[in-house]
Amino acid sequence: MQNNNIISHSPEQLAQIGNFKAEVTLNSPGRVNLIGEHTDYNNGFVMPTAIDKSIIFYLKKNKSQTQCSVTSLNFQSTYEFDLSKPDETGEEWTRYITGVTEEIKKRGRSLSGFDCLMFSNLPMGAGISSSAALECGLAAGLNELFDLKLTPLEIVELSQKAEHNYVGTMCGIMDQFASVMSKENHVIQLDCESLDYKLVPFNIEPYALLLLNTNVSHSLSTSEYNVRRNECEQGVKLLQNWYPEVKALRDVEPEQLEAHKNDFDPVIYNRCSYVIEENQRVNEAAKALERNDLETFGKLMYGSHEGLQHKYEVSCKELDFLTDFSRNYDAILGCRMMGGGFGGCTINLIHQDFVEAYIALAKKAYYEAFNINLTAFKAMPADGGKVI
Ligand code: GLA
Repeated sequence: MQNNNIISHSPEQLAQIGNFKAEVTLNSPGRVNLIGEHTDYNNGFVMPTAIDKSIIFYLKKNKSQTQCSVTSLNFQSTYEFDLSKPDETGEEWTRYITGVTEEIKKRGRSLSGFDCLMFSNLPMGAGISSSAALECGLAAGLNELFDLKLTPLEIVELSQKAEHNYVGTMCGIMDQFASVMSKENHVIQLDCESLDYKLVPFNIEPYALLLLNTNVSHSLSTSEYNVRRNECEQGVKLLQNWYPEVKALRDVEPEQLEAHKNDFDPVIYNRCSYVIEENQRVNEAAKALERNDLETFGKLMYGSHEGLQHKYEVSCKELDFLTDFSRNYDAILGCRMMGGGFGGCTINLIHQDFVEAYIALAKKAYYEAFNINLTAFKAMPADGGKVI
């Protein structure tokens, strides 16, 4: 199993960081989501938290007005750019950076030349939102470095917009919200319409959260994500014929959808049905967590996976395999795919005494089935992004 939140730099990296002389050092975490998938952009409910895996940013001003550089220590690659000539055509990771600086400028804040080093122990493409960690970390780091006086919520919102406008994923707000607003040992119960949220203590001992990374990331993830969002909007438009007050699927009762089932294209019906049921599951899961009823919580996780697999159709054979495999063991109360889908991790609610044995079993079975190595790590709820 990988170590938890140990950012271990090589001696060369340590020397590079030492010579750099950062003015601001900031930790920006990834996130897990316990339940409530693809509900955020439907104004619904989610239950994420930041985790103890993150990107560290080292930032300093340079003497230039507009010249900047961002270096990934993991890849030893540097992106140099000019704040006055935003390049929206570069590699994907550079577009997150352009997105953040441009969205900051749109909010009337002025930036000048800066240099940044970053180092990550967040696996990419694993569905634990390395992208939100990147956007929110850079935004929060620049906020600190240039004293921009952006509120945490502004950092969340501008980071989401960076992804919409410069990367092209029409993501909801969950990932950025979790990366910025989380608190150690808590999960967030977030209403994505009002942005009201509750930090709920998360004491699940003797259980633990185990992430199993399929190490696949199917190329459909961005295109199909936007398609799903569009299908949900089509469903809302149709429902507005009978229920003009409906603004998003979050406002729809299951009976309202049922009453018009025959008016729906079956695919759109399934998408809507999944979202409406998933919102109900999140609310039931919140109650189960309050009474420490982890068995019910686990069943709801399995229900979520079934919906994502069959109705929302964002799972893949590797995720389905791991979810089915977990059902063989009573020590696992729940399991489901996590994040946008088409690869990434499953999240497992598992008895802590069974973790190591289960990882060995799952690795073996997964390798036999797909010839791919599974990676595993425990996720601990952690604080949102902060200066260190
Ligand atoms: C991605 C998006 C989120 C959310 C999840 C699915 O992680 O960035 O906004 O929609 O997928 O729940």
